[in-house]
Amino acid sequence: MTTNTIALNRQRHPLDKDEPVWLFGYGSLIWKADFPFVERREASIQGWSRRFWQGSDDHRGTRASPGRVVTLIEDEGASCKGMAYKVLPDVFAHLDHREKNGYLRFMTTMSFKETEQVQGLIYIAAPDNPAFLGSAPLPEIAAQIARCSGPSGRNDEYLLKLADALRLLGDNDRHVFDIENLLLTECQTG
Ligand code: SIN
Repeated sequence: MTTNTIALNRQRHPLDKDEPVWLFGYGSLIWKADFPFVERREASIQGWSRRFWQGSDDHRGTRASPGRVVTLIEDEGASCKGMAYKVLPDVFAHLDHREKNGYLRFMTTMSFKETEQVQGLIYIAAPDNPAFLGSAPLPEIAAQIARCSGPSGRNDEYLLKLADALRLLGDNDRHVFDIENLLLTECQTG
């Protein structure tokens, strides 16, 4: 599979109608909404956990020194909070470009409140994509994030903005907050 998923995503979900589509964001899409949207609502999805397991050589790192960004890993019983956006289909040209480094669009069910659910799209970088880095000890992940930087900025900015956004959502994502803590206490001192 090529790392660039733009063409694959167009084939997977041809969006040629004028119907708005719900998009669930769980990473930078929570705090960096650089696209027009009709409506935005806090939401959650079930059965997935956020992990800093995806490599980034196009946004928060380089080919020689890839950074780490989040993807979702299947996790029965887990709940992942994020932000849902109702967008017009032409917005996906921008989103597909932004998420091109290994992320594929999938359909998912997202919940707004306990009872209100809608179907929509989500970008997930699956373990079989070439940029996937997978698990590593949290201090190693924090150190990698502390030293990496790419065309969209420093990797630690991505982590810190995500952690702030999750606090605002009232989320208690131990994976993200433990890495943030390691970064702030250990990686900044040397
Ligand atoms: C997302 O935010 O939903 C996808 C991952 C990212 O762009 O950080």
